[in-house]
Amino acid sequence: MSRRSRPPTPDSSPRISKKPRLEYPPLTADDYKNGLMLAPMVRSGALPTRLYALKHGAKLVWGPETVDKAILHTTRVVDPVTGVISYHGKSKAIFTTHPIEKPFLIYQIGSADPELAVQAAKMVQQDVSGFDLNCGCPKPFSTHAGMGAALLSNPDLLCSILTALRQAMPPEITISAKIRLLPSQEDTLKLVERIVNTGITALTVHCRTRNMRKKERAVIERLREIVEFVERMGKGIAVIENGDCLGYEDSKRVRQVTGAHSVMIAEAAEANPTCFSPTPLKDLEQTFVPGYIRLGKYLGNHWTSTKFCATQFVGAHENTRKNDSKAMREAIVRAKCYEDLDSFVAPWTGEQEWAEIVEAIEKRGGQRAPPHPLPPIEEVEVAPFIPAALSVSEAQTQKENDAAPTVVHEASLGQESASAADKPQIPPTASLLGLDVPPPSGETVDVAV
Ligand SMILES: Cc1cc2nc3c(=O)[nH]c(=O)nc-3n(C[C@H](O)[C@H](O)[C@H](O)COP(=O)(O)O)c2cc1C
Repeated sequence: MSRRSRPPTPDSSPRISKKPRLEYPPLTADDYKNGLMLAPMVRSGALPTRLYALKHGAKLVWGPETVDKAILHTTRVVDPVTGVISYHGKSKAIFTTHPIEKPFLIYQIGSADPELAVQAAKMVQQDVSGFDLNCGCPKPFSTHAGMGAALLSNPDLLCSILTALRQAMPPEITISAKIRLLPSQEDTLKLVERIVNTGITALTVHCRTRNMRKKERAVIERLREIVEFVERMGKGIAVIENGDCLGYEDSKRVRQVTGAHSVMIAEAAEANPTCFSPTPLKDLEQTFVPGYIRLGKYLGNHWTSTKFCATQFVGAHENTRKNDSKAMREAIVRAKCYEDLDSFVAPWTGEQEWAEIVEAIEKRGGQRAPPHPLPPIEEVEVAPFIPAALSVSEAQTQKENDAAPTVVHEASLGQESASAADKPQIPPTASLLGLDVPPPSGETVDVAV
């Protein structure tokens, strides 16, 4: 993370708290239940986004996938003013966090090697509450190295990484995995059984198969059987649904269909990090984006990271005039540094944004539950499950996935789906959230996450 853009903190300015004031008990499986989770997202899951997700009701937040080797050669640097912790690689921060998010932070590892995964975990152990293994990234740059979704067809390796992490980490650090569905339900259940037996605390299931494109609807109907299967195993672990959830209200539908303990949200949160709230912000250009940019600067978040995230934000419009929001979006796209946006977001303190985040997190009073818990799952009629065979279109998609050229930035290793060409993808049901305006296509940025 570059410090160049940080202005000197005036002596009169209150220093932001470096350490959280509240003590939290270690994470347990219960902390992974009855909540909405921010999904791991390379580039989009930056520190300011995770903090806003927590402010607006995410129960836990996943950091972006970081490949094991990438973190091994970093140096841990703590900003004496803000308390922000950066793991610096050769030219940029590979991972950035703040102690205030530690009780809620799950660090996602990309790995195909138990030893490297353990070494990577030991590097950052002091700053996180749990580790998650990415077993779902379908991109060739991940799978060719045996990582991500490649682990789904190598269950011995997958489970050996989870077992190694479990054995190497103290009990207060949780281990979890994020997988995709296999084409056959039977194979999925067999895999799930093996994974659960490694001693993990939670399992996230992205309800698409490796070959499904993200614009294809997630087959969440398949999850109910998996949830019931895991419950029958009697280990009390949490099963988290992932795929197509649009936010707090929509999570009721997802939980009714799947019976999942919790729901994890990626794209809808990328578009609006306040979607975890029953009352998500609208008119984001007025209500959210300026504060996000101020906070980004206050925390020393690299401009290209803040800019990239800001160009993804899109929410329902009620009071913003089209021209105003357009002007702001265009200014963000043009801006080369924080100061270029002075006319939209000055004065540049960011103190208020930070204070509000601290207040919202501290209001939880040492509990991880957000202020507006999810309602209990109501029993609903669910259509009987029809096992999904590998369809022709899936087979074709697999070919396309493998053939498609992928630009890999050092910091975007392991990204499941963030190529510029893929963005923006507004879910088909986006009208529910009023996601009517696609964000401008942001320029490709090489960004530290
Ligand atoms: C920008 C972006 C980056 C992502 N990066 C990761 C990642 O680092 N690790 C991971 O397991 N999945 C990653 N994913 C996949 C999401 O976590 C999630 O599984 C997927 O988007 C489906 O959830 P959704 O329907 O809520 O978007 C990424 C997705 C997006 C959109």
